[in-house]
Amino acid sequence: MSESTNKSGPETVLIIDFGSQYAQLIARRVREAGAFSLLVAPDTPIEAFNEHNLVGIILSGGPSSVNEEGAPRCSEEIFNLGVPVLGICYGMQLACSLLGGKVEGAHAREYGRSSLQVVKNEGLFRGIPADTAVWMSHGDQVESLGDTFDVLATTSTCPMAAVAHKTIPFYGVQFHPEVTHTPHGVELLRNFLYEICNIKGTWRMTDFMEQQCKLIKEKVGDKKVLCGLSGGVDSSVVAALIHKAIGHQLVCVFVDNGLLRKNEKEFVETTFRDHFDIDLRVADAAYTFLTDLEGVTEPQLKRTKIGHQFIEIFKESASEIEKESGEGFDYLAQGTLYPDVIESGHGYSGEAANIKLHHNVGGLPEELGFDLIEPLRDLFKDEVRKLGEVLGLPDGLIWRHPFPGPGLAVRCLGDITEEKLRVLRDCDEILLEEIVAANLYRHTDQVFAVLLPVQSVGVMGDGRTYESVVAIRAVETQDFMTADWARIPYDVLATVSNRIINEVRGVNRVVYDISSKPPATIEWE
Ligand code: XMP
Repeated sequence: MSESTNKSGPETVLIIDFGSQYAQLIARRVREAGAFSLLVAPDTPIEAFNEHNLVGIILSGGPSSVNEEGAPRCSEEIFNLGVPVLGICYGMQLACSLLGGKVEGAHAREYGRSSLQVVKNEGLFRGIPADTAVWMSHGDQVESLGDTFDVLATTSTCPMAAVAHKTIPFYGVQFHPEVTHTPHGVELLRNFLYEICNIKGTWRMTDFMEQQCKLIKEKVGDKKVLCGLSGGVDSSVVAALIHKAIGHQLVCVFVDNGLLRKNEKEFVETTFRDHFDIDLRVADAAYTFLTDLEGVTEPQLKRTKIGHQFIEIFKESASEIEKESGEGFDYLAQGTLYPDVIESGHGYSGEAANIKLHHNVGGLPEELGFDLIEPLRDLFKDEVRKLGEVLGLPDGLIWRHPFPGPGLAVRCLGDITEEKLRVLRDCDEILLEEIVAANLYRHTDQVFAVLLPVQSVGVMGDGRTYESVVAIRAVETQDFMTADWARIPYDVLATVSNRIINEVRGVNRVVYDISSKPPATIEWE
């Protein structure tokens, strides 16, 4: 292996992503097995591979056909890096064709479950039954390989379902070991890592935390870092991590925009200032935000106004702190996660990109002229939660449902008033109390109340009422891009409805939102 290899870094597997829908899943499986992993583009220069403590390479699947013009390819040099290579589906076909094999459109295309016959229960297939189910999803397949390969496994329609090169440490599988439909897939990937790449498997979240603290200290030196704390998981983990690295060189700003949930400001103050001893400043800007929103009913205008105001308040807070301490900030910390990085790196567009813009308060770093610190750039959401645990953040924070930047403004439909916000906060609190009491919080992904801009007729005691309607929204989702409404038991809904109508002045009707996303969105505005 090259001299310049960074042997001091964590054991790393690079995954060349040929556009597979499962590429991120491969990265997670590798991390779960104890090695660090990163996705790289097919045209990544070979020198970049040596910037890591490289222990193996995985070539992902992809929608292209190897023989097609313009199909993505990677450098043949990957076979000279001295580390084992595993090709999956398209990755196998590409590698086999680079190594002299022939790929053809399959006569019998295979999609779905297939039965794999394993030739030898060793190496890649150690401990895997001789007859096992695998998940196939391919049109092309390898037709001929000459005599430089061994066949490790077959299916009835795919005579070369798994192969190994005789002299180069290359292995290829036509099926997808990373998906749960391949029951022994995790074992196969672990075999690749432990039997073939000979990893030690020492990558753990505590190591990541220590390594990041060291990097942050080196980067920041004696300079100061500013962090916008929202009370959500990502910014909380960023704050706790940077605080661990540099203590009071970090200052956090929490903006109270008057659109927060009940007791949210107190929760953030108690957690970060009292428990973690973080230098936390709270910008009490409720009046500014709510005045600016007076009479505004159009959802996009609400969002734009809140976004602009946030930047103004944040800038003001930063300059006040700078004046007070006589020292400027050089860095701004952000909770950007790996899926955001992959999306922007690959130029994906659409909804996720939009949501990210809100999340990261687009434009702030440029406006403030700071350098960015993004210590979660390499992590998936569940890994951020693990890091939060390692850092000692309370469970209630780590497992929090997301809360949108524009806050209750997009859940108080129509114009926003203090009184409406009071009603909405009280309803939301009752709803969440009951969801937690019914042990449903961890089984749902987002639950909230929405105050509708309509009044309905009711009867209370002997009198007629004409009061507000509140909608309950509870969804289950993996990625918030699609979502299904949660099947909350009727009894729980009944308790929520009774409590809201009895306890919250101004509400006489509760409805349950049974729309999925798409076509509805999760938020109502
Ligand atoms: P939608 O309503 O688009 O929401 O289905 C998807 C997820 O994104 C959250 N969301 C936002 N988060 N700023 C945020 O930080 C926003 O402007 C924003 N809009 C929606 C929403 O709560 C859900 O989790």
